[in-house]
Amino acid sequence: EAGALWGGRFASGPSPELTALSRSTQFDWQLAPYDIAGSRAHARALHAAGYLDDAELPVMLDALEALEQGVVEGRLTAAETDEDVHSALERHLMAIAGPELGGKLRAGRSRNDQIATLVRLYLRDHGRVIAHLVTELVDAIAGQATRHDRAVMPGRTHLQHAQPVLLAHHLLAHAWPLVRDLERLRDWSVRAGASPYGSGALAGSSLGLDPALVARELGFDRTTENSIDATASRDVVAEFAFVTASIGIDLSRLAEEVILWNTREFGFVRLDDGYSTGSSIMPQKKNPDIAELARGKAGRLIGNLTGLLATFKGLPLAYNRDLQEDKEPVFDTVTQLEVLLPAFTGMIATLEFDEDRLAELAPQGFSLATDVAEWLVKQGVPFRDAHEISGALVRFCEQNGLDLDEPTDEQYVEVSPHLTPEIRGVLTVEGSIASRDGVGGTAPARVAEQLAALTARVREL
Ligand code: ARG
Repeated sequence: EAGALWGGRFASGPSPELTALSRSTQFDWQLAPYDIAGSRAHARALHAAGYLDDAELPVMLDALEALEQGVVEGRLTAAETDEDVHSALERHLMAIAGPELGGKLRAGRSRNDQIATLVRLYLRDHGRVIAHLVTELVDAIAGQATRHDRAVMPGRTHLQHAQPVLLAHHLLAHAWPLVRDLERLRDWSVRAGASPYGSGALAGSSLGLDPALVARELGFDRTTENSIDATASRDVVAEFAFVTASIGIDLSRLAEEVILWNTREFGFVRLDDGYSTGSSIMPQKKNPDIAELARGKAGRLIGNLTGLLATFKGLPLAYNRDLQEDKEPVFDTVTQLEVLLPAFTGMIATLEFDEDRLAELAPQGFSLATDVAEWLVKQGVPFRDAHEISGALVRFCEQNGLDLDEPTDEQYVEVSPHLTPEIRGVLTVEGSIASRDGVGGTAPARVAEQLAALTARVREL
């Protein structure tokens, strides 16, 4: 088989069915630039150990440069018969450098330590891109919170009116999980910062090559500790898939709210024309497709994670070909997030909130009943009784079609002698929100502090 990396002990070449099954260049060709970077570092390690002489090293580096040029320009590509990116690149290198010199590069490395290294390089690069895109989304959410720092809205639990909150408080509740995702990415990158290169197929190399030199050249901060673990484990890939699935989930939760808020019934937001879609038959429609795609893609990212976990489960040490299945799911996750995040951020940044509508709904559904109970507690009524009294007031108002501040003085006393007319003083949305001034609460001063803390945390990352 022309260009195969393992022909020697075989009397015949691979069957066409095997070739078709085994091929991975249709997805691992993306790793070509990283493979060449690895080869460059490996050539230096071979030179440092005396396997390439002072004349050979620059020729090898030039050949790798030419290889990279050819790949970047699309002149050099994988053939149907190339098993994987490593085989295809070696075939081209042999053609450029000649079999004599080209054939020296494979000493002391295996595709097993190569691929374990390349996938980390790929994920470290794209992890940085994704972190940048998530930071832009956090900034967009913080921007809306700043723009609407006084707006109120109905806070909900179980999707039922619960207590009024500041819109900014609610929006920032979507930003904090994303900040934690950014921190998870940073923590992950520490674990992904070890280079497996030099582990060979599984047992390490006998050639006295310096893995630390290769690690440094490739931008890693250290080498892996165990060559078997380094070639057999993909928890770094699974963890990346988890963190990115978590980002997907956090986008999806916000997406679900945008979809609801954009309905006629809620009427909380208007989507910008540039970030919404129309219908092919219903001329009036303006649909939240970006939010729906975010919600849908979150499912896909979770699938990629669970697929990876299922692939890794039960593999004996060390390398098994099953591990080739790690790439498509995690590449897909990267591709989806890199196209989704910019659109999603644009949608959030251009959302128009209807502050009047939000304010109108904030006190509805007896959402100030907790304020009645807490006011009673401040008058010395035990909370258990205060809760009962407040509940009785809700029942009375519901039966009589009144809001909580609408009964007469006599009607209040009828519900409970504790309900003096002063109760009306706490029955405003602004008063309710301002009173929740404990740490992490929705009072305007606390929310302003929170926004400053969030901004500082993101700057630190
Ligand atoms: N293409 C393989 C992978 O993605 C790497 C090559 C290792 N192949 C082998 N037969 N040991 O994991």
